[in-house]
Amino acid sequence: MNPTINTPLDLPCGARLSNRLCKAALTEGLADPMNRATPELETLYRRWSLGGAGLLITGNVQCDRTHLERPGNVVIDNNGGLDALRSYAQAGRTAGNHLWMQINHPGRQTPKSVNPNPLAPSAISLDVLGDNFGPPREASEAEILDLIRRFAHVAVVARDTGFTGVQIHGAHGYLVSQFLSPLSNTRTDAWGGSLGNRARFVLEIVRAMRAGVGADFPISIKLNSSDFQKNGFTNEEAAQVARWLQEAGIDLIELSGGTYEQLVMLGSGKEDEAAQPARESTRRREAYFLEYAALIKPQVTVPVMVTGGFRTRAGMNDALGSGATDVIGLGRPFCTDPEVANKLLAGTVDRIDAYELTKKLAADAPIPDGPPGLRQQIESFGQLGWFCLQNIYLGQGLEPDTEMSVWDAYNRYGENEARTAGRMIRPGATVS
Ligand SMILES: Cc1cc2nc3c(=O)[nH]c(=O)nc-3n(C[C@H](O)[C@H](O)[C@H](O)COP(=O)(O)O)c2cc1C
Repeated sequence: MNPTINTPLDLPCGARLSNRLCKAALTEGLADPMNRATPELETLYRRWSLGGAGLLITGNVQCDRTHLERPGNVVIDNNGGLDALRSYAQAGRTAGNHLWMQINHPGRQTPKSVNPNPLAPSAISLDVLGDNFGPPREASEAEILDLIRRFAHVAVVARDTGFTGVQIHGAHGYLVSQFLSPLSNTRTDAWGGSLGNRARFVLEIVRAMRAGVGADFPISIKLNSSDFQKNGFTNEEAAQVARWLQEAGIDLIELSGGTYEQLVMLGSGKEDEAAQPARESTRRREAYFLEYAALIKPQVTVPVMVTGGFRTRAGMNDALGSGATDVIGLGRPFCTDPEVANKLLAGTVDRIDAYELTKKLAADAPIPDGPPGLRQQIESFGQLGWFCLQNIYLGQGLEPDTEMSVWDAYNRYGENEARTAGRMIRPGATVS
């Protein structure tokens, strides 16, 4: 019989997911000033756990406090807080679901307020409007080896504190994805050039993690099915990397796409870009990356999860039934309704409209005129901020504020990030 969202799934390492719905990683920004877990994270994840998804993946947890995706990230780099992590893991497993920690290093996609001179495979600046990201410097070989050890260290801490698996963030233009893309990796040593060299970083991370956590602990990766950028990491390259990842012992490959330069993971992106994932057939099938997963899925036996754009129960069951994916990843729907998985599984909800709602709110937003592209950037980041703020409210025990305008969200989110950055205790500072 064809699988549906209600069907359990066994993973290569022996772990079992109780159903095919996963809350994909959603950055929370709820860590304390030392980037440790907090009671707000416990509240948020207890709500999500009770919400019914077989698998919850945490927002990206960083492996180095000097390199953050945003100021309120949780970090594991000998900054203490192990008891807080244990409480967080326990809360996130309240309903007996799997809870995997997503592990990341942002590379050049780190806000200037956190680090004005980030680390990256090559010294190539991010091509986005505004002045939010500093010019990166090229990582030395010693730094690359240290980064691999850091990813593996975080995985071991995740296992030891009660998380039931880990996920490497290899998508969306962060460090691992920067290594994979020939646009951001122009190195001429063993870590750049050919696809084999560009993939060396992530494959070494998988090997180091597997050695640290053992054979029966799930290790997943979130990988771009393509960067959707001219001369970037392609769909064909993603299929090859997926095969190598399988050989290295990955348990689940989550497919997404895009970077900060091309925000297709959220269904937008530069209109003039040739490589858009919005083919007519993809639109019909609602999820953004199913067409691109179709090239990769037949080439691996390891389970695949596709994330981005799923909005109807029928669309999810069709995708599972046709063999296009094994797990359905959902992001934004969990920000406006932590119970959404239970409702989908029980069949009491057919359609989720959170994404359409913010698109409408963005279209109505009183965004001031500016240089070309500014409106689109504010709309995209305003919508992202809108969802980030909902997670903060959920963590505070409040209900989502779905009336908030996207322009308000853009401003409120900016203020929130500045406040959080201002409270941060930087590494090396004396703590009383
Ligand atoms: C508020 C917000 C935070 C996100 N944080 C992360 C993250 O930490 N790691 C990650 O891999 N993806 C992150 N994403 C991307 C989502 O996991 C997902 O790929 C994207 O939202 C598309 O899925 P959806 O259409 O179901 O929302 C984030 C998305 C949103 C909206």
